[in-house]
Amino acid sequence: MKKIGVLTGGGDCPGLNAVIRAVVKKSIKYGWEIIGIRNGWKGLIEGDVEPLTDYTVSGILPKGGTIIGTSRTNPFKYEEDVQKLTENTKRFGIDAIAAIGGEDTLGVALKLHKIGIPVVGIPKTIDNDLFGTDYTFGFDTAVSIVTEAIDRLHTTAESHHRVIVVEVMGRHAGWIATVAGIAGGADEILIPEEQFDIEFVCNHLKARYDRGKKFSIVVVAEGAQPIKKDLSVSQTGVEGDTSFIGEGGTLITQTEEKDEFGHVKLGGIGHFLANEIEKRLGVDTRVTILGHVQRGGTPSAYDRVLATRFGVAAVDLINEDNYGKMVALQGNKIVPVELEKSVSRLKTVDMDLYEIAQIFFGS
Ligand code: F6P
Repeated sequence: MKKIGVLTGGGDCPGLNAVIRAVVKKSIKYGWEIIGIRNGWKGLIEGDVEPLTDYTVSGILPKGGTIIGTSRTNPFKYEEDVQKLTENTKRFGIDAIAAIGGEDTLGVALKLHKIGIPVVGIPKTIDNDLFGTDYTFGFDTAVSIVTEAIDRLHTTAESHHRVIVVEVMGRHAGWIATVAGIAGGADEILIPEEQFDIEFVCNHLKARYDRGKKFSIVVVAEGAQPIKKDLSVSQTGVEGDTSFIGEGGTLITQTEEKDEFGHVKLGGIGHFLANEIEKRLGVDTRVTILGHVQRGGTPSAYDRVLATRFGVAAVDLINEDNYGKMVALQGNKIVPVELEKSVSRLKTVDMDLYEIAQIFFGS
């Protein structure tokens, strides 16, 4: 008999409820008790938990978001929070924690594992940038939403002879931009992995225009960075956030405020680009920021299945007392990966894939 706590941390993502459901149902099969820790690590610091039963998870498989809430709380920011968290883990009699999250949540999971709290990780992020797993759930859904948006924007861009810049999520990695951009036939895709030269982008768009294609769709990941010479003085520029992988570029941000994990709030690259394109090419330009639409709503069938497999595999790891691991998809198998390894670096876009996307730029 075990008592396990499950939590969701960081940005929400379609498929979280499918994982929670799988964790609860599989645990019940083992005869265990499950508690939901509300709002990520915050719930364990504050002692905010709820019992999860077969009844509470009924009907949540297709539901977006997370029924237990989430937050970007970092318990290691203040020493007393780690102490509170440890005490509450004991007080509630939690034998193991299943932490569903991205790089930040799993980074905390690893630190907790190192101080003796039994934890297993379940990888989540629409950005698909977690190292050690081929895919994270949520990504497939986000790609479908962005692809549909690009399809819709094509018809209006073409009718009005406009360039439409579509800003998508992707802080450190341009997976959504690349995959949805290929699927939607984008004319330019800009990603954090490769700083871009605005002159280059405009040359591509002009080449299209000169060949009679009087409209274009440019997909840009929120974390894409123009090379420094492209920046006009009116733009807010923050020299990379604390965990940024690149060097030398400048992130376009909404504010310089940082969250508890040191990340700045991104946003604005779409408008920056659209202004530059309009100024340099003299074509009518519009911006669509897809934002949190990419994260909301029901998960795709693929994400539901992946989330379910992850949830079941995590409970099996707990059954084996195999802690400090994250469940991961490698090929078609779910395998355990050391948390130490999965948080050691980010999984950036496969540049072979990006090269395929580039074939269609300016054509
Ligand atoms: O989950 C990661 C992410 O999707 C990033 O691409 C984005 O920068 C961030 O979430 C924004 O999340 P929020 O607005 O919830 O802080």
